[in-house]
Amino acid sequence: MEFTQRVLNAYAQIDDRRLRAIVAGLIKHLLAYVNEIRPTDQEFEFAWDYMGRMAAKTGPERNEFLLLADVLGVSQLVESLNHDEPGTPVGFALVGPFLRANAPFRGRGAADMSDDTPGARVRITGKVYDFHTKAPIEGAILDTWQAASNGLYENQDENQPDYNLRGRYKSDRDGTFDLVALMPTAYPVPTDGPVGELLRAAKRPPNRPAHIHFIVAAPGYETLVTQVFVKGDKDIEADVVFTGDEKMLGDFKRDGDRFSLIYDFPLRRGVSTMPKAPIPA
Ligand SMILES: [Fe+2]
Repeated sequence: MEFTQRVLNAYAQIDDRRLRAIVAGLIKHLLAYVNEIRPTDQEFEFAWDYMGRMAAKTGPERNEFLLLADVLGVSQLVESLNHDEPGTPVGFALVGPFLRANAPFRGRGAADMSDDTPGARVRITGKVYDFHTKAPIEGAILDTWQAASNGLYENQDENQPDYNLRGRYKSDRDGTFDLVALMPTAYPVPTDGPVGELLRAAKRPPNRPAHIHFIVAAPGYETLVTQVFVKGDKDIEADVVFTGDEKMLGDFKRDGDRFSLIYDFPLRRGVSTMPKAPIPA
């Protein structure tokens, strides 16, 4: 019997149909990959040792496996396959490793950061609405998070207050919201682990172009996970995790020493879910 078929047969008794298909697909493609690449013994040893080192870098606040999926384009592809539909004006983005559970609720017009956080402010206003009927959605929750101007999220930086540059806001009866954020900053993904080795080998800069994360959720609507990039930023195409896209550009306007942005979030009818936060509360 052909070798791949023999392995596939050994996993044919899995009861759950979906799990059976997932395992069979994995075996089929993994063995085809090995047949194509023909790793040497030393290369195979490197592969399992690399995974062991990824595991050693993984803990409650960091997941090297998720980071590898991000820089190989897997995370963004999963997000696009599950959610992108032609015609929708706002694109879906990977959640990324920095979403933290239970961000504080902040009032209309409030800033997502402490007063002494350095950097230019941007007032972001807009509307959450039903993509098909265009009706405003009241009570939608906008969960936002972003890096400080030193490129660090608050969980990476002991000089920032707890939950700095994170917050949840609610849309009003007319679907509108109003918040003050920091002008988005570019930052590198962590490169002190095995993923960093890969990026250096590929001569890929580890940078994410400046962006602000948003998750917009309302009962009866598919949750929108997105990021807002700065229109005109030349580094968007080089996004190390392949998320930057023309469907996620914000037209930031300078307003004296502050900036402003108008950005709307269309939601489609569907099941409201919340992604698992990689960082606990
Ligand atoms: Fe980010």
